[in-house]
Amino acid sequence: MNASELATLNQTYGIQDQLAFKEGLGGLAIAAMQNDYGEATVALHGGHVLSFRPRGQAPVLWLSRHARFEAGRAIRGGIPVCWPWFADHPADSTKPAHGFVRTAVWSVVSSETSTDGGTRLTLTIAEREATKELWPHRFRLTLDVTLADALQVKLTATNTGAQPFTCTGALHSYFSISSVADVRITGLDGCDYLDKVEQYRRKVQQGAVTIKNEIDRIYLDTTGACVIEDSGMRRRIAIAKNGSRTTVVWNPWIEKAAAMKDFGDDEYQTMVCVETANAAEDVVALAPGESHTVEADIRSEAWV
Ligand code: BG6
Repeated sequence: MNASELATLNQTYGIQDQLAFKEGLGGLAIAAMQNDYGEATVALHGGHVLSFRPRGQAPVLWLSRHARFEAGRAIRGGIPVCWPWFADHPADSTKPAHGFVRTAVWSVVSSETSTDGGTRLTLTIAEREATKELWPHRFRLTLDVTLADALQVKLTATNTGAQPFTCTGALHSYFSISSVADVRITGLDGCDYLDKVEQYRRKVQQGAVTIKNEIDRIYLDTTGACVIEDSGMRRRIAIAKNGSRTTVVWNPWIEKAAAMKDFGDDEYQTMVCVETANAAEDVVALAPGESHTVEADIRSEAWV
């Protein structure tokens, strides 16, 4: 994005002392939000929340130091928007993993200050020739990112075509943690999950989730909040949600981390993904004109 396009965005949607558009890493346009609650950045590339830091706290989201900021590539960390399919395409593995909107450029449609002093930015993306080759449907996605006492991320998918379609997806949130050894994730006890590490074997979660090896699990029928309890950092990150019955927990561990070019060899020790998803049995069906909203509310607090 050139300087005059950024200037136009700032004139139209910038909010004094709260929201400014800038050139970020790799020359990608980012929205920098700040207010009394903290700060957050969102790349227009992917509609991708890159960072969130409540005032006086350490960053909540994890971003790889090897992340690539390039047109057409997914960014490793933050909150990639996965849509209209989660993980591999159900029928054609040559199509991009996690859909195509995380690597496309979104447009800004509005910004506002809420009555509680929060800052909201709304982005959108719709079908175009390139997406029709990958997925033959007409759609509009709207992403509302609100920085207030929590970071609220709301993705609304609308079927703007004349035919029904089904979709899956995720707000694929990467969280920054002190160390895998000092973290447990609560909120999933007793839930069934598909273990991707063991060919999707169905299992039942016993107690809190701990990370002692590769974890890639699709928790089914999960509508409640999860909490990342980090005894090393003495903080709790609560992830509440709406419009999602699936929670994905992922840590690639040693070998998979080493195999990814945009992921540091040792970085698996300080991250975990707890993803607010529609996946597996939780498929969203939209008739023409219908919409579905999936929402993640991320709140971090000191744990004393
Ligand atoms: C998770 C999946 O959601 O995303 C994992 O469950 C996958 O299987 C991970 O490896 C990362 O995917 P990607 O495409 O960003 O490397």
